[in-house]
Amino acid sequence: MTAGTADTGRRGNDGLSRRVFVETLKLSHFRNYPSLRLDLDAHHVVLTGENGAGKTNLLEAVSFLSPGRGLRRTPYDRVAQVAGEKDPLQGTWAVHAVLEGPAGPVEIGTGLQAGPTGVETQRRVHINGAAARGADALLEHSRILWLTPAMDGLFTGAKGDRRRFLDRLVLAIDPTHGRRVNDFERAMRSRNKLLEDHSADASWLDSIEAQMAETAVAIAFARNELIALLRGIIADGPTGPDAVFPNAEISLEGPLEGLIQEGAAADLEDQYRALLCRNRPRDRAAGRTLEGPHRSNLDICHGPKNMPAALCSTGEQKALLTGIVLAHAKLVADVSGIMPILLLDEIAAHLDEGRRAAMFDLIDTIGCQAWMTGTDAHMFESLGDRAQFFKVASGAVEKAT
Ligand SMILES: Nc1ncnc2c1ncn2[C@@H]1O[C@H](COP(=O)(O)OP(=O)(O)OP(=O)(O)O)[C@@H](O)[C@H]1O
Ligand SMILES: [Mg+2]
Repeated sequence: MTAGTADTGRRGNDGLSRRVFVETLKLSHFRNYPSLRLDLDAHHVVLTGENGAGKTNLLEAVSFLSPGRGLRRTPYDRVAQVAGEKDPLQGTWAVHAVLEGPAGPVEIGTGLQAGPTGVETQRRVHINGAAARGADALLEHSRILWLTPAMDGLFTGAKGDRRRFLDRLVLAIDPTHGRRVNDFERAMRSRNKLLEDHSADASWLDSIEAQMAETAVAIAFARNELIALLRGIIADGPTGPDAVFPNAEISLEGPLEGLIQEGAAADLEDQYRALLCRNRPRDRAAGRTLEGPHRSNLDICHGPKNMPAALCSTGEQKALLTGIVLAHAKLVADVSGIMPILLLDEIAAHLDEGRRAAMFDLIDTIGCQAWMTGTDAHMFESLGDRAQFFKVASGAVEKAT
């Protein structure tokens, strides 16, 4: 598929996944935007401007159209515009968007509102004017995926960050995964507390561990499935030294995931429950649960070089990660039937001209609306009429001519 798809705005690369794109974005009291309205079509969105202009803030606003704390993962009260003067709406913020999708336009509103006792702490979500029960309802309408410079240290950083990255990838194809991970963590915290309290009832521990085993096995299966599907997409794409992005070899190391891969999944819940029971003295001494899906490690290797990602150069790591995120976008389109919206912050910064053009072609082939930022508009020239260009300056946005 080529640039022509953007004109229809409704068809994906396989004819089944249907494009969803942001048609209108309105912000109020959002970071450095007192208020903003942006009208868009289905083409890619390129935002350029100086450092501190508000480019990443715009991507963050779009990321709030999916569940969770957005692409910066900051507390919600930090998102409200820090205003100099006393403002009765101080602390509140709002993002409104119209998403155009296969079922027609969907209006989404989210943000922190003022309640009777001050600004609320949880963001509210409204879909077509009605309050949604939770932010997960957003997944019925869109998938928002992102790649930001803050993710650059993913391969060298904490294992927990890689697990969170993996769980976000899973969530995009399996909306119940977030609840699963939260349920496991809540049960694990209860178990840790019970272990601390030496007088705790053993049957109470048994029942918490049974809950943990059930969710842990579901988590391990979902993660393994995502990895298998992603491997399939990567294997279908260009691989080898000439590929724009090196193919990543992805695996997950963990006791449960390992057993599933070995085909020993039948009584996995029982095995993990027994392990937790055996480990009680050890875990009590450590003050935490030492084994489980909360300790698994996402392992990534540079395929053509057969080199662990952590040992690759900065540019190689960036290329590996970009390749994974784009492969995932394709997977999401195939599995969910919803063409994701891609937020690619400073995507073109470290690539030479040829690689940049090849990357834009690849992004365009996925068939989604991609939002891209950079300080220099020239970097995006090869996108041509496949993108709409905007200039961002001091919290204001103008269409570039
Ligand atoms: N809550 C807030 N209220 C007001 N301004 C804020 C708030 N949070 C962040 N800002 C400001 O928003 C500005 C723009 O930030 P943003 O990260 O979007 O810039 P950018 O255009 O992506 O810059 P760069 O090219 O350096 O990445 C910054 O100057 C920052 O201080
Ligand atoms: Mg930025």
